Amino acid sequence: MDGNGRWATQRGRPRLFGHHAGAKRVREVIESCPDVGVEYLTIFAFSTENWKRTQVEVAGLMSLFRRYITKEARALHKFGARVRFIGDRVRLDAKLIKMMDDLEEMTAGNTRVHLTVALNYGGRDEVARATKRLALDVSKGLLDPDDVDEETLPKYLDTYVLPDPDLVIRTSGEARISNFLLWQSAYAEYEFIDTLWPDFSRAEFADLCAQYGGRERRFGAVKV
Ligand code: IPE
Ligand code: MG
Repeated sequence: MDGNGRWATQRGRPRLFGHHAGAKRVREVIESCPDVGVEYLTIFAFSTENWKRTQVEVAGLMSLFRRYITKEARALHKFGARVRFIGDRVRLDAKLIKMMDDLEEMTAGNTRVHLTVALNYGGRDEVARATKRLALDVSKGLLDPDDVDEETLPKYLDTYVLPDPDLVIRTSGEARISNFLLWQSAYAEYEFIDTLWPDFSRAEFADLCAQYGGRERRFGAVKV
């Protein structure tokens, strides 16, 4: 969800105004998932690098996350969204962590849309944390190093219950991955679009999903 800051600047408003506008777009994207055939939606809300922003912006974003959960939890549950959070929780404040836990617990039985929110998430950080836990299992004798392969490692990632992404959409004209689902996106299709996140619409989402449906994916093989 990139481009909130520029969207606000274009309007002569503070960056946080853009983040609030961006947050408002999330609901319609979630709610259009069943119509466009998306069962798993992952949104990148805050990266491990975003702490480098000013204290005002970081605090504003954290407060926005708390407010968003408070405001949207009921609607998400009613809609049938199962919410999960990925990322490292250690740097988040206790109040927010509790809200994240409660939302995950409340929606645990839902299946209509699997919504994953990446919060204090970084792909490299995730792989490093996974490797640490894997090494711990080896040191305890729970895992044989000979058994470490492409199937074993992802079991230690935050996304262990989720399928790999089919399509990654990045808004705001930047053609970068910025540490998002690095391992998981090895064979993802990418769409880099110019729209700033607060302008991203249900219609554009539907278009991108339809285009994706027409792509040929070979996963390194040759079509026979
Ligand atoms: C939102 O967009 C991303 C978040 C960290 C919430 P930005 O804040 O990166 O917006 P730009 O890139 O400055 O326009
Ligand atoms: Mg940005």
